[in-house]
Amino acid sequence: MRSITLAALTAISLMGADGYQVYKNNCMQCHTQMMTKPEALKSFKSLKAPPMIEVSNKLKDNIQTKDEDIDVKRRVVIAFIKDYIDNPSIQYSMCEPMALEHFGVMPSLKGKLNEKQKQAVAEWIYDYYEGKTF
Ligand code: HEC
Repeated sequence: MRSITLAALTAISLMGADGYQVYKNNCMQCHTQMMTKPEALKSFKSLKAPPMIEVSNKLKDNIQTKDEDIDVKRRVVIAFIKDYIDNPSIQYSMCEPMALEHFGVMPSLKGKLNEKQKQAVAEWIYDYYEGKTF
């Protein structure tokens, strides 16, 4: 019994960070979780960044892999998000020019998140919005 409990605890600690928590603590103040496109257009002036649903959908649309394997695409999108957290840049932004002019480029969060947290939040951004349209 005791060893089962220990094994369960170890499994939990190895699971890594909770992506939604990482999002809430580090991204939500700028990227709203959910919004429809008409809502976003209406409140555009008061938004600090594109809603996260738009970010997720846009990355999935724009990043196309030759490989039909969905896992490959998922990994490429996740890698892009992880990199963008540390190294946002006008060069890699997929924001429309007009929106970018309003928002400015995202400030770098370098040093704020560890590898596990970046992985978890990037996975959450990909998976949570699957099947949800902006
Ligand atoms: C201080 C505000 C702010 C915070 C905090 C913030 N972002 Fe951003 N983010 C922006 C803005 C503004 C843009 C749009 C301009 C750009 O593409 O750089 C953006 C764009 C992005 C993009 C690129 C989307 C595109 O269409 O090019 C990704 C990916 C992203 N953010 C992920 C994150 C993640 C993940 C977090 C939290 C770990 C986060 N952001 C926290 C402001 C923020």
